[in-house]
Amino acid sequence: MIKKISVIGAGTMGNGIAHVFAQNNFEVNLIDVNSIQIEKALQTISKNFDRQISKGSISEEIKKQALANISTFNVIKDGVQDADLVIEAATENIDLKLKIFKEIDEAAPASAILASNTSSISITKIASVTKRSEKVIGMHFMNPVPVMKLVEIINGFTTDASVTQTIIDLSKQINKVPCVVNDYPGFIANKILMPMINEAIYSLYEGIAGVEEIDTIMKLGMAHPMGPLQLADFIGLDVCLSILNVLHEGFGNPKYAPCPLLVNIVTAGKLGVKTGEGFYTYTPGSKDIKVSERFMH
Ligand SMILES: NC(=O)c1ccc[n+]([C@@H]2O[C@H](COP(=O)([O-])OP(=O)(O)OC[C@H]3O[C@@H](n4cnc5c(N)ncnc54)[C@H](O)[C@@H]3O)[C@@H](O)[C@H]2O)c1
Repeated sequence: MIKKISVIGAGTMGNGIAHVFAQNNFEVNLIDVNSIQIEKALQTISKNFDRQISKGSISEEIKKQALANISTFNVIKDGVQDADLVIEAATENIDLKLKIFKEIDEAAPASAILASNTSSISITKIASVTKRSEKVIGMHFMNPVPVMKLVEIINGFTTDASVTQTIIDLSKQINKVPCVVNDYPGFIANKILMPMINEAIYSLYEGIAGVEEIDTIMKLGMAHPMGPLQLADFIGLDVCLSILNVLHEGFGNPKYAPCPLLVNIVTAGKLGVKTGEGFYTYTPGSKDIKVSERFMH
């Protein structure tokens, strides 16, 4: 029975994961090496609860209880000692994740399940550096976690079926919809999404259509809530490029090769919403977006 959950990384995803479990009465240890990130995460969680209160979906009392369910730590060893489940949501870097999983494996109880929220790194590879590979699994939440219903559950090559079942049940307990897939590059979400985004970027690069036209066609024609170029800006163009590289290397198939325009735009440091410019330009505090000057002509 899972009661205590340690979340490693208090960034965009970590704070959302902590929010959802705390709201559902789990005890949560939120761990980040960076104290400023922890402070920011607690503020974000509190603000997101306020939004839910103003919509009438939760009460002040639930917010108070949820915040009381969260403890914070700077050191992994201290924060995972009594965990039933550890969910790693640290920076997407393979060497870092392998180092973190070795640390968790040494410090967490032998019975604990170890999950990663990675978007693209092999769960089988992560599991291979632990002494409990049958208890390692992918738990891929979507951004923003409190809003998005899906949890893509990724079975590593050696994940035990009982572990998968525990994570399916747990996902339902927090009102999410679990979907189980196998561990191959990009899993399912990104194996399908990233080639679509890459194709949209290719269409722009080849001059077949402009930014607004591509996004409008996909929004109005396919009922997507956001066009692929705007979505790429939202995800982060560097993140899109690195996932495409994982697909390209992992399958050895040229159909996943990242578009040279994506490589250029990332090399130039235009990473989308987080840097204020990608295919569109963004102004902090404003919802207005404009097609970036460089794609106007
Ligand atoms: N952002 C998304 O849309 C999204 C969606 C699904 C999955 N993911 C995945 O979730 C993970 C986290 O992504 P994010 O967007 O939240 O990143 P982020 O950069 O917002 O946060 C990462 C956090 O990890 C912390 N960290 C780094 N090293 C650490 C260590 N050794 N111990 C503890 N904390 C450490 C950093 O201080 C930072 O606060 C990645 O694997 C990413 O691929 C991201």
